[in-house]
Amino acid sequence: MKLLLNAAKIVNKATIYKSPVRYLSFVADSGLKAEGDDPLIVGSSRALLQRLGSQVEVRTAFITEEEEGDLLRELEPGLKKKRYEFDHWDDAIHGYRETERETWGAACQTILSRVRSVFATGSSLLGPVHILDLDKTGYIKPHIDSVKFCGSTITGLSLLSDSVMRLVKEDAPSEWLDLLLPRRSLYILRDQARYNFTHEILKDEESLFNGQRVPRQRRISVICRNLPA
Ligand code: OGA
Ligand code: MN
Repeated sequence: MKLLLNAAKIVNKATIYKSPVRYLSFVADSGLKAEGDDPLIVGSSRALLQRLGSQVEVRTAFITEEEEGDLLRELEPGLKKKRYEFDHWDDAIHGYRETERETWGAACQTILSRVRSVFATGSSLLGPVHILDLDKTGYIKPHIDSVKFCGSTITGLSLLSDSVMRLVKEDAPSEWLDLLLPRRSLYILRDQARYNFTHEILKDEESLFNGQRVPRQRRISVICRNLPA
């Protein structure tokens, strides 16, 4: 799965933090948030949130604690055999180990088919599911997944830890969205959000959402992608 990141672009983050105003918004169309809940997505402007609202989603409690346990029991033995990689300065990911999985036990199959049902009908999914295990000190630098290997939609289940995902417009770094990814949530990036914005997972020291600290623990993500059309 390294291939996905070979074409990744590392962008200069310096400008991201200069934005003086943080507008708040609920995810307009997720239908899953109760009135008065804290927002899961904040961004550099209301206009951007409105424009991108339908292309970025965070679905909280997408899996239960029990289902998280099912996934961990299936994934841990393989992951434990690998060592975290830290020192490749040119890698888009720091402090990680990863694997892919094609076939799953019964409990996990049910979870994976729920994830797959999020994709547009008729879109073909990349066969193997990508598993990325980030150490507590690990993080993902800004990048765009290779358009050669991956289509219009990326979904990720977050296990073991809350985290913050940042999207930054590739050709206009003052335009950004921050997504709070609670443990056991599913995020979905589609279309422009996937093609025209870099995405990254913040390191523990920088892990703030809307001014609130979001401590980062070890985090495993289960990532499904569709194929290019
Ligand atoms: C990736 C990536 C995000 C995640 O592997 O390309 O962006 O949720 N992962 O782990
Ligand atoms: Mn990516």
